[in-house]
Amino acid sequence: MDNDWKFTFGHAKESSKDLFYKIHNDFSKTKAKGINFSSIQYDDSTWLQIDLPHDWAVALPFSKEASCSHGYKTLGVDFPQTSIGWYRKKFMVEATDSDKRFEIQFDGIFRDAHIWINGMYLGNYQSGYMGVKYDITDFIDFKNENVITVRVDATQAEGWFYEGAGIYRHVWLNIFDNLYTPTEDVYIQTKSIGTNSEILTEIVVKNQYLTEKTFYLEYKILDRNKKVVTEATSDVFRIQPNGKLFLSKQLSINNSSLWDTDNPYLYTLVTKIVSNNETLEELHTRFGIRTFRYEPDGFYLNNKRVQIKGVCVHQDHAGIGTALLDEIQYYRINLLKEMGANAYRSAHNPPTPELLQACDSLGMLVMNETRLLNSGSEYLTQFENLIKRDRNHACIFMWCIGNEEELIQTTITGKRIAQTLITKQHELDPSRTSTYGGNVGNKKEGVNEVIPVRGFNYNLYGLEDYKNQNPNQPIIGTEVGSTVSTRGIYIPENEINKIEHFNGVFVADTVHAYLLDQDYSYTNWASRAEQWLNQTFFDERFMGGFVWTGFDYRGEPTPFSFPNINSHFGVMDVCGFPKNIYYYYKSWWSDKDVLHIAPHWNIDAQPNQLVKVWVYSNADEIELFLNGKSLGKKMMPKLGHLIWEVKYQKGILKAVGLKNGQKIQSSVATTGKPTKIILTPHKKSLKVGNQDALVVNVCVVDKKGLEVPNANGLIHFNLLGDAQIIGVGNGDPSSHEKDTFGKNEIIQRKLFNGKCQVIIRSGKTKTPIQLQAFSQGLNNATITILQQ
Ligand code: GAL
Repeated sequence: MDNDWKFTFGHAKESSKDLFYKIHNDFSKTKAKGINFSSIQYDDSTWLQIDLPHDWAVALPFSKEASCSHGYKTLGVDFPQTSIGWYRKKFMVEATDSDKRFEIQFDGIFRDAHIWINGMYLGNYQSGYMGVKYDITDFIDFKNENVITVRVDATQAEGWFYEGAGIYRHVWLNIFDNLYTPTEDVYIQTKSIGTNSEILTEIVVKNQYLTEKTFYLEYKILDRNKKVVTEATSDVFRIQPNGKLFLSKQLSINNSSLWDTDNPYLYTLVTKIVSNNETLEELHTRFGIRTFRYEPDGFYLNNKRVQIKGVCVHQDHAGIGTALLDEIQYYRINLLKEMGANAYRSAHNPPTPELLQACDSLGMLVMNETRLLNSGSEYLTQFENLIKRDRNHACIFMWCIGNEEELIQTTITGKRIAQTLITKQHELDPSRTSTYGGNVGNKKEGVNEVIPVRGFNYNLYGLEDYKNQNPNQPIIGTEVGSTVSTRGIYIPENEINKIEHFNGVFVADTVHAYLLDQDYSYTNWASRAEQWLNQTFFDERFMGGFVWTGFDYRGEPTPFSFPNINSHFGVMDVCGFPKNIYYYYKSWWSDKDVLHIAPHWNIDAQPNQLVKVWVYSNADEIELFLNGKSLGKKMMPKLGHLIWEVKYQKGILKAVGLKNGQKIQSSVATTGKPTKIILTPHKKSLKVGNQDALVVNVCVVDKKGLEVPNANGLIHFNLLGDAQIIGVGNGDPSSHEKDTFGKNEIIQRKLFNGKCQVIIRSGKTKTPIQLQAFSQGLNNATITILQQ
């Protein structure tokens, strides 16, 4: 149900500018009298035509008066005219389906949504992160068009980071039989692993026919190639009208392949409900065969200790905010895998289901986090729904019941709430455990008295004492590291003394709030990358940790404020372009050869000015050469980096490393002026149907073809064919340029330190598209992409 919606702004304070909401929101009868915003007859022809996912905040202006948490976008009580969004979607339902059940499912709306169908109210859903679904069987019109209306109120923030606004995840119309299994009522657990593995399936069958029914279940397990590897049939059961049956069955799989991060092997359980020789329902559930153990000496996946090399991530991306097409989830997870990360923490909220699908398929462990440490019915239900929605995902290895609840985390209240949530988790998913992101140093009071796996948010000074005092409690780093840096910002060594010391961090440019792109600066509650990794990497009593954060995100511009609008915590920027510490993590986390030199050699330095050259590598020893002359050989310290103080001369700086006796090398070179634009798409073709995405990375090269790392020119884009540029970005944390463009606007973006990015959404016809890029004085670039 993602395509062809209508959208318009309402108003948080004036009903007349809010489609007369509150005046026409008539609860006196089930169906509103006359025509209002929720009736099929309502005229929405002047509204904007949009496709989901949709985040209206991306296109809003920046304002100094707006919340820094939301990236200074004009949302909130002071911006009533841009904080309410109205959506309408018309659809037909086949008359032949009139004996079926219907459900409308929203995977995520930010936030506080009121929902109607055909003028009748369905309900209000507050959470901006958990989805909601409504049974709409009774309301469907099989002869005429139906209309779903949604009023979204993004006035109230939930987090202290950018959260977007609108229906930013998928919407589904689920059609099923009256004898059925709700998707969240299938639960598959691995019971044992070996040549033959055992799984336990638990399934609830509901009968919404008006008569008693008899049925049986047919189980089939398909392997990766859709080949049936196990089959079974249940007994025959009788079920009363409005009845519910809980059925479990153990199934074994011969010669099974296990799921892990290197080989994320997935099976599909196909469950058929058969009644009177007719298949009424067929449910497909993907799962992986694997076991988890959480021990004081680490986390075990399939009985092997796996070090958690994790990143915390918020959900927005350059150009598109929180409205990520599924392909962008895969793009981002692939970038993290390439760096060597094996785990993802969805900070501080439930992720979209497609993120979990990407992690299942690509082999990325996930710590799945509920929004608040709260056992009141609103949040307990969110937690329950989260576990039931997600527990079949192979990738999830742990639940997180909350984060830094400073006022209750060390109290008896915190302890009781945690206990209630943990008990609920064990009831709904006994195959996993929970942790909590506490910033309490070595204290074991409140939540930490009952939490099965102790989470450390920073404060690692307390780790040694805590371990000694609690030898039986497994420990994980729920938030670690937290270098703040800006991609591509480098200055010569003697100018570093001149840079302003601001809140404990090195600032290269106070106007634009740019930090050095080195592992120098960190917030005073956290640590640098090298500090936490050195403290914990070989510590068996620490499962590993989640770096704050994998990518920069909008909002939380710590340690700055306006005009700085996004965070600096990322190992990569908002586009997913690596910063310098990316290569540090990759050196020690991945098994790939890494040899990376920073800064780039276009650094603004005078001849003979001292430049500190950092080399990140997992080679054993490295020799650096400037224009062919050796600057000396050094041994690479484990988990460290090497520095050469180099008297700057233009030319080529080359590093040659020896890794296990093999030579590896890399270089940076002073380039000439940019002459040509280069467009690099992340794949060769798009799938038609409006739901695929293409990331095109943009850079410029000199006449020798060398990428110019400090180019900052403006690039114009033009897209020919049936597809759309839905966003542009460049990773500049203080850019106030537009991310999205209207139909007749010129699409443009400046390069930021040599790079920018364009995101294209596929169209509906199978014709090739062409992306053109122009910049004054440079050769244009054109790429053609097939749509299939
Ligand atoms: C943590 C918090 C994160 C983020 C981070 C910034 O305390 O849990 O959400 O705010 O600090 O350093």
